[in-house]
Amino acid sequence: MSASFKHLFGIAQLSRQQIEHLVHLGESFIELSRRSVKKAPTLRGKTVINLFFENSTRTRTSFEIAGKRLSADVINISASTSATKKGESLLDTGETLAAMQPHVLVIRHSISGACEFLADFLPDTSIVNAGDGAHEHPTQVLTDLLTLHVQAGGVAGKTMTIVGDIAHSRVARSHLLAAQKLGYKVRLVAPKTLLPRGIEQFGCEVFHDFDAAIPGSDVLYMLRMQTERLTSNCCFPSIREYHEAYGLNAARLALAADDCRVMHPGPMNRGVEIASEVADSARSHILDQVEHGVAIRMAVLTALCGNSPESSPSPRSKRREKAESAMRAQGKLL
Ligand code: NCD
Repeated sequence: MSASFKHLFGIAQLSRQQIEHLVHLGESFIELSRRSVKKAPTLRGKTVINLFFENSTRTRTSFEIAGKRLSADVINISASTSATKKGESLLDTGETLAAMQPHVLVIRHSISGACEFLADFLPDTSIVNAGDGAHEHPTQVLTDLLTLHVQAGGVAGKTMTIVGDIAHSRVARSHLLAAQKLGYKVRLVAPKTLLPRGIEQFGCEVFHDFDAAIPGSDVLYMLRMQTERLTSNCCFPSIREYHEAYGLNAARLALAADDCRVMHPGPMNRGVEIASEVADSARSHILDQVEHGVAIRMAVLTALCGNSPESSPSPRSKRREKAESAMRAQGKLL
């Protein structure tokens, strides 16, 4: 079975079978990274461009390593060194890079929907969402699913308790979508100010008291405060009080079952959402997540590069006009 899709915008577009296929493909790539010669010819002749408009350590590096280990040519561009600094729009940057005929464009952007927007008029390029605003972060969630597949025999029937800044977290949103498809339960724990209104529609349980949510949890998934997306600093009283109410320390972890696992997508803010004694403990799978992030990105690049464009594009000028007027209407044209 193949995953069979042209772009990866989010977990929302994937079926349970496609998610499972990517997780199994990812599992098959773990071993390659542990060899002394970490190279396979799978993507020879393919070009992958990483275009990052937001900071990243894990995601950008793992896409780069994944592409290189599979023999693709990988180019990294960050907003701080690109022509966007000279006033070029996202649209023009995308079209410029697409004119160089890459197979895959991996994009991280602060605007939700930026990848779908670009895909509309880059018909020959596969686009991978490496995190778009507070919308989705599919490869992080696939990475977490691979970690739980390898370390805990999968997620079906398990309860994942996600704690922290849910309101601004694309990782939480992608997990809520994956949980519905794969049959795991999600508990969300946060102060009211860090929870989006109507989040219960995803079928999750909502808690404001962290201690009450711990018994029965199979995974405690800690989130960083997404300060880059906070519009005001009134979401929580102080770092100290936040840590007391929502930080995971050893005393709190003692309320969990012995086999409850701790995860975090990184970057961690030690002493805020997680204490070092937990982050560095045997219960923590944070570095496993990092290792599996490379394997999952190998799987995603392999799945995408095996596919050719699905349909013939509408004329470029028409697509551009349509896309620009939609973005202008939303006040989002960069
Ligand atoms: C996450 C992200 O960028 O959304 N990190 C990541 O990709 N490893 C979570 C975060 O930044 O807190």
